[in-house]
Order: sequence, then C-alpha cells, then structure tokens
Amino acid sequence: MSAASTWRQLRAAVTERLSLGGIDAAGAEARWLCEEASGYASAEWPEVEQQRPSDRSVVLLDSMVTRRLAGEPLQYVIGSWSFRGLDLMVDRRVLIPRPETEWVVEVALQEAVRLGLRRGPNGAFDASEPRHFAADLGTGSGAIALALEAELPEAEVWATDVSEDALAVARANLAGCVARRVRTVQGSWFEALPTSLRGRLDLVVTNPPYVSEPEVAALPPVVADHEPRGALVSGPTGLEALNEIISTSVGWLTGESVLVCEIAPRLAPDVIALARSVGFAEALVREDLAGRDRVLVARWKS
Ligand SMILES: C[S@@+](CC[C@H](N)C(=O)[O-])C[C@H]1O[C@@H](n2cnc3c(N)ncnc32)[C@H](O)[C@@H]1O
Repeated sequence: MSAASTWRQLRAAVTERLSLGGIDAAGAEARWLCEEASGYASAEWPEVEQQRPSDRSVVLLDSMVTRRLAGEPLQYVIGSWSFRGLDLMVDRRVLIPRPETEWVVEVALQEAVRLGLRRGPNGAFDASEPRHFAADLGTGSGAIALALEAELPEAEVWATDVSEDALAVARANLAGCVARRVRTVQGSWFEALPTSLRGRLDLVVTNPPYVSEPEVAALPPVVADHEPRGALVSGPTGLEALNEIISTSVGWLTGESVLVCEIAPRLAPDVIALARSVGFAEALVREDLAGRDRVLVARWKS
C-alpha cells in the first residue's frame, strides 16, 4: 500500500485485497479497518477520505488487513466492538459480544421493569445506596453487566467469570465506561459471589457456553480457531453450564426475581423443564429477532 495515496484510494485497495481473500463484506470491513487505522470517527470519514494517510497509519492498516486475511475476526483486529451503544475493548481473551446477547439484555431489562426496578440512564434517580442487586454470570468482556448498569440506575451489578483473562478485559471496559456500580469477582457461576448476596438477587443474567463438543466441528473457523473455547463449549451435550446455573440459582434469588439465560434454540425444552423442576414459578423461552428460541426467562416467587 502506497503512503502517497488518499484514504479513499487506500480503502479501495483494501476492499480489493479483502474481496480477493474471500471476505464477504469486503467493502464494509475495509471501511471499518480504514477508520480504525486513521484514528478518525465514522462521522469524520467523508472529509478524511480526501486526505493523505500518514506512513504510520498505512503500516498499521497493512498489518490489520494481513491479520484479517489470516482469518482473525474483524472485531479482534479492530480491538473493540459496540454492544448496545457501549464501545467495548475485545481481544482473544473474550467472546465477541453478539447481537443476540443485546436482545437477551433487552429481555432482562423488560423483566426488571416488570419486577418494579426503574429503568433509565445513569443519574436518572438519586439512590445513594443500591436498591437492587443483579448478577451477570460469565461476564467475558463485561458486555451484559455494563449494559445493565447503564440502564438500571438503582442496581448494583456483580460480574463474574471463571477466567482471570476475561475479567482483566471486563475490568478494562469498566474503567473505559466509568462504571461505578459494577463489581467483578472471579470464580465458577454463583460460587464466585459473596455469601452476603444469597437470597438477595433480583435479576441474574447469563450467556453461558452452550455449544456441545460434537457441534464444535461445525463452527466456522473464524469462531472455532480464535474465540476462547471455554466461552463457547459447555460439554458433551451443550446443556452442562445451563444445568448447573439453573439448579444452583435458587438459593441466590430474592422473593420475586428472575433468571434470564441465553440458550441455543435446540435446548429450549430442556431448560424449561429444568427450571420448572427446581421450583421456578414460571419458565418460558422468548425468541430472538430472527425468530429462534433464544432466551430462557425463569421467574422466581417465594
Ligand atoms: C458465551 S461467553 C459470554 C461472554 C459475555 N457474557 C457475552 O455475552 O458476550 C461465556 C463466558 O462464561 C465464562 N465461563 C465459562 N465457564 C464458567 C464458569 N464455570 N463460571 C463462570 N464463568 C464461566 C467464559 O469464560 C466466558 O467469558
């Protein structure tokens, strides 16, 4: 790539390289990569395109394109991704937050409102102490916890993960988002939480690993070769993590509360049966925006 070109010419060259390399959305990805290498925001791009890129940004762009052509996900190459309007740092220590999970958060927020929690931006209400407690189990990049914190101004949100590497990314994102009501803690599912939270959680949200071992072979290489296996794969059936979370959730929930889990569509009948068998008053599965069974909503009443 020539340092003498304009950004517009560079973008065209990158589009061609990506397209020849078999990338489907070559034009869109070229624009994302060029914007990232230029250091300018999207809105400034029409003006930036006329300018000459610095030698440094050309070198940076070249290395990003090389990584992408080697099969790395675009989000890791860029180093960040948007989740419900939050700009999150992502790298190979964490799962890339998915649009399905944005919908899981929306369902969780609707459930929170149904339980009487107030929904609004930070600072909307002036509670000096948290009035509600929520948990995001297996927080990864911190996406769910940060989205809950951003929209439930009276809740303290506990973000857990078994992976110290993932928690390091979550903590970086907490700092980046200036999150004041999110606490991080390492450990397996509910075991990570302080016992003082037993019987006090209003809302538990989780996107646990739910791919089964036999399904791994069918994952696209961009997922299987790059995203953390511990974030994707649960065990021989895919139900293992959900099983553990649903069965151990009971002692942690308060009088009227809810457990919201992202699931694989094929697991819907199993998770509903399991939630009912451990005593949830109501268990249902909501579809995602593509019409697939995606979100277990298990309502607790005691
Ligand atoms: C599918 S990823 C979800 C990440 C993030 N919540 C999201 O939705 O983008 C699952 C997460 O669960 C974590 N995890 C796996 N086993 C765990 C366990 N036993 N206890 C807690 N977290 C676990 C993984 O490290 C990973 O970060």
